Amino acid sequence: VTDSGEIYDALAPYYREYSAKKSAYLDAVDRFVIENIPAGAKSLLDVGAGDGIRGMDIARRRGIGKVVLSDPSSEMIARCRQLGSDDIWQCAVESLPETTLRFDVILCLWNVLGHLAGRDVRVQALLRIRQLLAPGGAIFFDVNNRHNASGYGLFEVARRKLIDAVAFDERRGDATFNWNVGGRFFPAMGHLFTPAEIKGIVEESGLRIDKSVAVHYTTGKISRSSMRGQLLFMATARHVQGQEPRA
Ligand SMILES: C[S@@+](CC[C@H](N)C(=O)[O-])C[C@H]1O[C@@H](n2cnc3c(N)ncnc32)[C@H](O)[C@@H]1O
Repeated sequence: VTDSGEIYDALAPYYREYSAKKSAYLDAVDRFVIENIPAGAKSLLDVGAGDGIRGMDIARRRGIGKVVLSDPSSEMIARCRQLGSDDIWQCAVESLPETTLRFDVILCLWNVLGHLAGRDVRVQALLRIRQLLAPGGAIFFDVNNRHNASGYGLFEVARRKLIDAVAFDERRGDATFNWNVGGRFFPAMGHLFTPAEIKGIVEESGLRIDKSVAVHYTTGKISRSSMRGQLLFMATARHVQGQEPRA
């Protein structure tokens, strides 16, 4: 399986076009994020920012002046550099830099977490994100939903839910596929999550889900039923006295 950095380097020149095809979905997610950003937010970190256009736009629409963009792909980072953000970090989410900076808003949009291999790495990533949250800050992330009946059909999702209820194994959510990027085929992998799986890794990372909705991947329609689209979350740091999450 090809490293996702190589795939996103190849996708970068086509990334605007690729995003435009999913605009109903992406715009609905953006509206949810913009409506729920805590009042008075002044700083934003976009993790897995892609070409940075989306994070910069969300920040601008909420009047957030300080923006840091991060992504592991060199070609995506080259595009981020054109946008005049305050800083750029070229890194994967699980290895975000040690810094004293803290952010009011952290974005991790469009299944960035689905690029991480295995539960431990996903928890590690969320722990790093939590450490970078300012007091009262919020993280927004959306992931592909393995229990999405509007994508996979009610019957298939009922079957998956039944099997998951009896013997859950996260590896059932690992998908491998050939991705056609500009006429070149790349062997790729991505992870699809269940709502319960997200709840588990969020809690283990010392976060708390404040809001969750499903967003239809074609129409962008937002629903409370977790079976009607991809999963979109707003989470904040959970403070349990005397019990800090392991770093
Ligand atoms: C579908 S794009 C989404 C980009 C952007 N968040 C947006 O919504 O337009 C996924 C991004 O995740 C990045 N990515 C892949 N693996 C990553 C990792 N381990 N940590 C952070 N970002 C990663 C890719 O380079 C790519 O830019």
